[in-house]
Amino acid sequence: MKGSAVAPWWHVRRAALIGLLGDRDSAYVYDLATVRAQAGKLVALRSFTRVLYALKANPHTEILEALAGAGLGFECVSRAELERVRETLPGISRDSLLFTPNFAPRSEYHWALERGCRVTVDNLQVLRDWAPLFRDREIFLRLDASGGRGHHEKVRTGGRHSKFGVPPEDFAELPSVVDAAGARVIGLHAHGGSGNFDLETWLEPARVLAARIADFPAARILNLGGGLGVPDRPGRPPVDLAGLDRALLEFKAAHPALELWFEPGRYLVAEAGVLLARVTQTKGKGERRYVGVSTGMNSLIRPALYGAHHEVRNLTRLDEPANQTCTVVGPICESGDELARDSRLPRCEEGDVLLFADAGAYGHAMSSHYNLREPAAELVMPD
Ligand code: LLP
Repeated sequence: MKGSAVAPWWHVRRAALIGLLGDRDSAYVYDLATVRAQAGKLVALRSFTRVLYALKANPHTEILEALAGAGLGFECVSRAELERVRETLPGISRDSLLFTPNFAPRSEYHWALERGCRVTVDNLQVLRDWAPLFRDREIFLRLDASGGRGHHEKVRTGGRHSKFGVPPEDFAELPSVVDAAGARVIGLHAHGGSGNFDLETWLEPARVLAARIADFPAARILNLGGGLGVPDRPGRPPVDLAGLDRALLEFKAAHPALELWFEPGRYLVAEAGVLLARVTQTKGKGERRYVGVSTGMNSLIRPALYGAHHEVRNLTRLDEPANQTCTVVGPICESGDELARDSRLPRCEEGDVLLFADAGAYGHAMSSHYNLREPAAELVMPD
């Protein structure tokens, strides 16, 4: 309940959730009212002119429709993501779409630019060697503008040891390379990592980008990336959004010609999604008590990949005392196939429904068919 007394949507709608699961073994379920509520909080920030949704977190079409309805644009990282947005929202304006590829093939840049998409470029070599692609195009430049911050080293996208962004040693050369390509830089971009709570995550790149903006006479936009964290345990404080807004309004007062863009993914969808999976078997082994469920790292890889924590509840026995310490595992043939380690649960019996919270971001989007097991399907809560 994340520092406030408000029960999460899935607690309130437990009976409807179990009904929606029906006789399935597992499913992701999304609550669009929560998506809209999160979007509302970002749209209300006065410092940002434009909020884009980084759809790598969850490209489900109904989520895209809900976010477009709330006034958000979209940040895409592949041609397939761009196509998903264009097919779901055929009337989408060019202003609402941004393509931010990284080490993608030339053909993807070509495809997007031909269709009038704005592209973020983060490599001098691309501007030099593929110069004709960029002639008279409006582009963003992604600079490596922070040390990199994130909930795990694998999601830090800034700093010397990450593959993203134009490195500081190339900053001085950028204007002449852009000029030679005939591109028009309309904004600068930085994204230092994911799952952050410290306001410096956005204030540091804002300062670094502002210091470079004069190099590009047509540039007015600073895209500060995404990275807003979502507390993963009850009682942990959320990001101080009001504080961020205040600090960025002060920053803007010092740079009145600039507009700020924001492009979070996780914040908009994490809490809106849960993974449901049925108990298959239980086992005591050494000091561990294992509870097996019908799907594992093929549906939710975050615990195995990052040691990420997702609160787990036995939805069938939500009101029974959580008096057992259990490790929840899936049916995948790897020891790493754990969804929760040493979590407190009530007794669990075959067929019970376990719920993994805050699974709406980077859950289904990162799922696989490992062991030829279908990942959990996606369902949307009826309003
Ligand atoms: N913009 C850019 C350029 C990005 O690379 C990302 C995320 C975002 C925006 C959105 O970041 P968010 O607001 O969601 O933190 N799979 C990892 C997260 C990887 C994030 C990659 N880039 C996880 O499950 O924690």
